[in-house]
Amino acid sequence: MKIIKGNIVESQSLNNVRFIKDGGILIDDNGTIVDVLEKIPSDTKYQIEDYKDKLIMHSFCDMHLHAPQYPMVGMGMDLQLIDWLNTYTFKNEARFKDLDFARNVYHRLANELIKNGTTRVVMFSSLHVDATLVLMEELEKAGVTGYVGKVNMDRNSVPELYESTEESKQETLRWLKECKKFKFVKPIITPRFTPSCTNELMEFLGNLAEKEGLFIQSHLSENLGEIEWVHSLHPDTNQYWETYDKYKMWKDHTLMAHTVHSNERERKAMKDNGVISVHCPDSNVNLSSGVCPVRTFLNEGIWVVLGSDIAGGSMLPMYKNIQAAIKASKINYIRSGYKDMFLSVNEAYYLGTSSAHKYFDGKEGFATGKKLHAIVVDDSNFTPSVRELSLKERFERAIYMMEKENIISVYSEGRKIF
Ligand code: GUN
Ligand code: FE
Repeated sequence: MKIIKGNIVESQSLNNVRFIKDGGILIDDNGTIVDVLEKIPSDTKYQIEDYKDKLIMHSFCDMHLHAPQYPMVGMGMDLQLIDWLNTYTFKNEARFKDLDFARNVYHRLANELIKNGTTRVVMFSSLHVDATLVLMEELEKAGVTGYVGKVNMDRNSVPELYESTEESKQETLRWLKECKKFKFVKPIITPRFTPSCTNELMEFLGNLAEKEGLFIQSHLSENLGEIEWVHSLHPDTNQYWETYDKYKMWKDHTLMAHTVHSNERERKAMKDNGVISVHCPDSNVNLSSGVCPVRTFLNEGIWVVLGSDIAGGSMLPMYKNIQAAIKASKINYIRSGYKDMFLSVNEAYYLGTSSAHKYFDGKEGFATGKKLHAIVVDDSNFTPSVRELSLKERFERAIYMMEKENIISVYSEGRKIF
């Protein structure tokens, strides 16, 4: 057993952050949390890892990003979604049949995630199985944990990035067999989005997820043109979400990125079926998609988490995406005539950490029985304040001011990564 000692900043629920000055997190030899200590007894028999006046915060979770889009951050940002996919994204992803290229990019990405304090992810790879396995290997080596999806897409792409329906099925099965060797990175079923998958493939994936007990991720109601397109492809449905529901993919733990334009009926379907909204505020502004009304989602009791959506989003660090979520919510606040309340710093921290950690282990905060996922933040190089700050004020400044250099230690799945 060991005590991680410092100033604890624990997100216990949407609104509540618990601050403990000179507190500690007691973990066992496997890195499982045993207790959060308000005070460390002077005669404690446990070893102490003493971070003194530094902040001990939750590590971040990036619940939606496209690993093969990491080399195209900042490209095509004058376009909207469908043109951006056709002009830049598909051609870029096609490069990942080259495994050396993939290894190089994914090695850098995995290490950059850890340096920025992101220890849990839910990612899209490309359609290439071998490159997807390279990605999973690099994540495991770096200490990043979570879910990765081989992307399925058997229509409406470019010739360089193509798989037939049969190839898509067979390659998915081959990939799932290979995934068994990983310990901390697991597979998730990933139809790119409805326009990318034939009905036959959607049916196969829905059945496969059910049979193997796998979670599902995709995109939903990101862009108005996309929504119209989906409607024309599935004229038998009323709304976008029904195209996933039709194939048994609309269920508990399904992650749907964006949901910018989901109306009341679509939101109710999310709430009623345990489907999670992955809010990607930076991407939604970059691709001129819109501003997701996150406050409404939260008021309606929908589970919301955050994603960078690299490379629709252009910021990998989740502390920056937390800021982006706050700022996007203030646009809605202003537009609503100061009625729809913006996200507080506490709330946005929750969406970027605790709300998403719960996806992996079922509990919020630094709860007993969870593996420790935490970062240690040294805020001593921030511009000096005019007076001594409370822990709450230091936490708020950290969210707005931290850079990766301020993250001096990272714990992932109970292990100290650095
Ligand atoms: N919808 C389908 N594919 C993509 C993608 O790569 N990025 C985003 N933002 N939306 C998508
Ligand atoms: Fe995306």
